[in-house]
Amino acid sequence: MSKNPTPLDRVRAFEREQAMRISAEERPLFHLTPLVGWMNDPNGFCHYQGRYHLFYQYHPFSRQWGPMHWGHAVSEDLLHWTYLPCALAPDTAADAGGCFSGSAVPLPDGRLMLVYTGVQPAGTFRRETQAQCVAFGDGTDFEKSLLNPVVRHAHLPEGYSEFDFRDPKAWMEPDGTFRMVVANRHEERQGAIVLFSSEDGLEWHFRGEIDASRREYGRMWECPDFFPLDGKQVLLVSPQEMHAREEFHAGYGTVAILGSYDAKENRFIRESLQPVDQGLNYYASQTTMAPDGRRIMIGWMDNWETCKEAPRRHPWYAQMSVPRELRIQDGRLMQQPVREIETLWRGTIRHENAEISGEQSLEGIRGRLLDMTVTLNAEGSACRRFTLRVARDAEHYILIRCELARGELVFDRSHGGSHRDIAHTRHVKAEVREGKLTLRLLMDRESVELFINGGERVVTSLIPTPMEADGITFAADAPITITAEAHPLG
Ligand code: FRU
Repeated sequence: MSKNPTPLDRVRAFEREQAMRISAEERPLFHLTPLVGWMNDPNGFCHYQGRYHLFYQYHPFSRQWGPMHWGHAVSEDLLHWTYLPCALAPDTAADAGGCFSGSAVPLPDGRLMLVYTGVQPAGTFRRETQAQCVAFGDGTDFEKSLLNPVVRHAHLPEGYSEFDFRDPKAWMEPDGTFRMVVANRHEERQGAIVLFSSEDGLEWHFRGEIDASRREYGRMWECPDFFPLDGKQVLLVSPQEMHAREEFHAGYGTVAILGSYDAKENRFIRESLQPVDQGLNYYASQTTMAPDGRRIMIGWMDNWETCKEAPRRHPWYAQMSVPRELRIQDGRLMQQPVREIETLWRGTIRHENAEISGEQSLEGIRGRLLDMTVTLNAEGSACRRFTLRVARDAEHYILIRCELARGELVFDRSHGGSHRDIAHTRHVKAEVREGKLTLRLLMDRESVELFINGGERVVTSLIPTPMEADGITFAADAPITITAEAHPLG
C-alpha cells in the first residue's frame, strides 16, 4: 500500500478487517453474499483469464444501501466463490455519487474493461445525474479513464433523461468493435433501452432504441441485457413499478422479451414476453457466456420492496441467485441451475413410484441444503391437490401446493417465520404435461429456488425459517404416485 492510502485502499483495508469476523457457516453454501455489508445487483459477470468474475453493487459500511462501490469475487465453477478486493469506489468527479451497475468485457490485449454508471451528485442548481464510465484493469485493480463519463446525456437525442440513464451492458462483436445497451427513461416511451457502439470503448455513438415500456410493462426499465439464444434474440429488463397483469406480479420484477433482431437496421421485433422469475425475491439479472457456449444468468435474490423489511440476521445482507443455464424451448425462456451443481451432491436418496395418500415424509428426505426433484404422475390419479411442505418443524413450514386440476402452484412462506406484513405468497402456472408435473427445488439454508417443469417457470424466495426446521412432508388429497430424488448438498 502506498504511503498515502487512496479512498479505495481504505475501503479495502476496512472490508478485509471486517470480513475476518465472518465464518463460512454464517453464509449460504453456494450463493454469493457480499464480503461485508450490503449487496444488490450482479455486475460485470464474465469469464476472464480462466475464471468467472462477478462484481456486485456493494455498500461495505452497512447492511443498508449507501454510496455504491463494486464488490468482487471469482470462481471456477460458479458455486465456490473467492473474494477479491473491492474493485471500484465512488472517488472521482464522474462517479462521486456512486458507481452504479454495469458490465465487464475482456479485451484482446489481456485487460478487463469495466463499464458502469457514474452518478454525479446534485449541485446547487442541479439534480443528481447519471452517465456511463469505463475503467481498465488486470482483473483485480482498475484504473478509471480520465475521459469519464464517456457516454453522457449529450450523446442522446431529445426526450431522453439525464437523471435516469444507467446500467450499461457491453459486449464485443466478432469484428472487435463494442456495443452496449443502456437503460433510460424517455419522456413519452418511459423505460427505454438504447444502443451504443464504439471502436475503442472510449468514444461511443448512439445507434437507436431497442425497445420501450410505453407504460405497459412498468415505468423505468433497469439493468438491460441483450443477446442471441437458440435462434431468438432476448432482451432482459428489470421494470420498476409494474402493474400486475397476465403472469406479472406488481412492483419490481425481471422480464424477458423474446424476438428477432436485425442488427444492421437495429430493429428488434417483439414476439413474446414472460416473467423471468415469479418468486418473492429476484431482480436485476445479468448474463454471460461460459467458455463452452452456455448462456448463464444470475440475479439479485431480493428486490427493492422486500429488502426494506427483511431482518438483518447476519453481518452481511443479501445474496445472489444460483447461476442458471438458459435455453429456449417452444418459444419460452427456460432456466436450470448450472450443471456444476452436481459436484455438490453428497449422495442420492431416491423413492421411485412412491404412493402418497394423506400426509407423510419419505425416508431420508429432509434438510436445508438440498437439490430435490419431485415428479408427480398425475395420470389416472384422482388427486387434485398435492402439497409439499419444506423447512418444516412443529411451528414452521414453507408451503408449495399444486392445484393439479387448475394447473396452478401456490408458493407460500407465511408460516416460514416472518414477523412482517409483506408479500409471502405467489400463484404460478404449473401445468401437468403428458400426465407429469416436475418440481425441482434447490435449498441453500435461507433460500428456495423452485424450477417448474424443467425450468419453464421459476419461483425464487428467501426464507427466514430457523435452520432447525428441516423436515419435508408430502401430502395428497387422493392417492398419487411420485418419484422423489434428493441430493444433500455439501
Ligand atoms: C437496480 C438498480 C440499478 C442501479 C443500481 C444502484 O437494482 O436500481 O438501476 O444501477 O440498482 O445500486
